[in-house]
Amino acid sequence: MTALTIPGLDQAPTTHERLLSWVREVAELTTPDQVVWCDGSQQEWQRMTDRLVEAGTFTRLAKKPNSFYAASDPSDVARVEERTYICSAEEKDAGVTNNWMDPNEMKATMTELYRGCMRGRTMYVIPFCMGPLDAEPPKLGVEITDSEYVVVSMHIMTRMGAKVLERLGAAGDFVPALHSVGAPLEPGQQDVPWPCNDIKYITHFPEERMIWSFGSGYGGNALLGKKCYSLRIASAMARDEGWLAEHMLILKLISPEEKVYYVAAAFPSACGKTNLAMLQPTIPGWRVETLGDDIAWMRFGEDGRLYAVNPEAGFFGVAPGTNWNTNPNAMRTIEQGNSLFTNVALTDDADVWWEDMEGEPQHLTDWKGRDWTPDNGENAAHPNSRYCTPMSQCPILAPEWDDPKGVPISAILFGGRRKTTVPLVNEAFDWQHGVFMGATLSSEKTAAAAGKVGDVRRDPMAMLPFIGYNVGDYFQHWVNVGKSADAAKLPRIFYVNWFRRGEDKRFLWPGFGENSRVLKWIVDRLEGNAAAADTAIGRVPTADELDLGGLDTPKADVDEALKVDVEEWKAELPLIEEWFDTVGDSLPSSMRDELVALKQRLGH
Ligand code: PEP
Ligand code: NA
Ligand code: MN
Repeated sequence: MTALTIPGLDQAPTTHERLLSWVREVAELTTPDQVVWCDGSQQEWQRMTDRLVEAGTFTRLAKKPNSFYAASDPSDVARVEERTYICSAEEKDAGVTNNWMDPNEMKATMTELYRGCMRGRTMYVIPFCMGPLDAEPPKLGVEITDSEYVVVSMHIMTRMGAKVLERLGAAGDFVPALHSVGAPLEPGQQDVPWPCNDIKYITHFPEERMIWSFGSGYGGNALLGKKCYSLRIASAMARDEGWLAEHMLILKLISPEEKVYYVAAAFPSACGKTNLAMLQPTIPGWRVETLGDDIAWMRFGEDGRLYAVNPEAGFFGVAPGTNWNTNPNAMRTIEQGNSLFTNVALTDDADVWWEDMEGEPQHLTDWKGRDWTPDNGENAAHPNSRYCTPMSQCPILAPEWDDPKGVPISAILFGGRRKTTVPLVNEAFDWQHGVFMGATLSSEKTAAAAGKVGDVRRDPMAMLPFIGYNVGDYFQHWVNVGKSADAAKLPRIFYVNWFRRGEDKRFLWPGFGENSRVLKWIVDRLEGNAAAADTAIGRVPTADELDLGGLDTPKADVDEALKVDVEEWKAELPLIEEWFDTVGDSLPSSMRDELVALKQRLGH
């Protein structure tokens, strides 16, 4: 087939030459049956979802309007970090935490994979915008994909379609993002519900601001506006332009006096970002509104404060563990429908269910399509199963969520999942110490990425899988951001751990809505109204300094959750040392200085 005969290719609703020639080049390489330019309309959603139901990829839910269930191929359930590459021209610019390949070599390899890979399929062109469309400049991208699942997901997760093409104009800048599931169809060949390929590449060319993805249809591997653009490529843009692209939720905290504070918080995947973002405070008079649950772009405003914008328009949340107790606002968001559920379980009356959701279903279809009963011994939903739902449906969405100016951040929280050592809350002495806290952040591995769950790993700023360049340079960039600012206007930095356990493995802190007590202490710190002890690792409150009124947890447990155990921290030192040795030459000397200072404070 020659390019000229590919239907749709020449019906482009744009005169943008760079876009047109890229789309033509990709179509000629991948040889789809037709090209469709996505407009983002309701009719398009209807067409795509109908088609996916017909193909057996989607099951229409009976209990939630305009909502669908999808099960992936059992091999394609999470981000694949070992197949994720940063192809900078020089290897040192990718750094030790990224897989690297020479960009020309990678292009040669992937070009052969892409050759003919859309045969028998439709190639969709999705113009999208990360962040508000009226931002100056808007952060635009165009994803080419052969997956209808991706088109539907991008409808939820991004601003996309005709309005974006209009904003792009005839010569606007955009990030090209090429995606294929890598499963061409021969004439007459029956498709499978979840096409994908055993060979997977999730590739970034940070200098060219370009993304190539092959072989996976899943979430962060395939919805290229999310992790690939808004974190890996954007972090490289941010380094060059003096801002921060971070793996952070954004929340708005409103005090009983109606004073507003904006907080950004970085936790690794599946460590409760979404729950904190939508928190329902248990302490009277306090309210939380949500601005984002996964990604924050932060830049300095004219007043010298750091302002955050969420580039996304939807939530791609981990389903298991989400329920009316842990996250009622997420439940209210999905209940309104217009949502997509992947790898959860299906009830007999065509609703969704997952582990820890209310109800005791006696029979389900599990995420692998098998019969499930309570005595079955396996999870009905995959631990990394997801709901994908529009932010606009969140009942506590902050009205300013779509403001291109963003919101001024008063506090940055870092946190991970640690059974031991790390106290409930700990305030940094200053910005550089806070950067050290972020740089040494550690967490037990979750199901959000392939690999062994439970192992402790360093996850700097919760960005380990998402830093689009050299990790040491990234730390230096964080230090520089602090140096370039008026220190009094910088957000204060805190390190939290909701997951510390007692001797019998019980959680020492109840978490969820009770975390509002920690947020209140943080605000009291900002206002100069709360005390903290200077410990070796930072400023830590005693239980008396937290508002614990009405809390069921024994005070002794709270004491233990807050404890700074010098021996535990001495045992942590070699792990930090090992991590810094891994980072190697590019580690800023200021981070070594912080480690030396920590050792001295520990009397080591
Ligand atoms: C994903 O896993 O596909 C994803 C988008 O993100 P995360 O791991 O941060 O939840
Ligand atoms: Na490497
Ligand atoms: Mn995430």
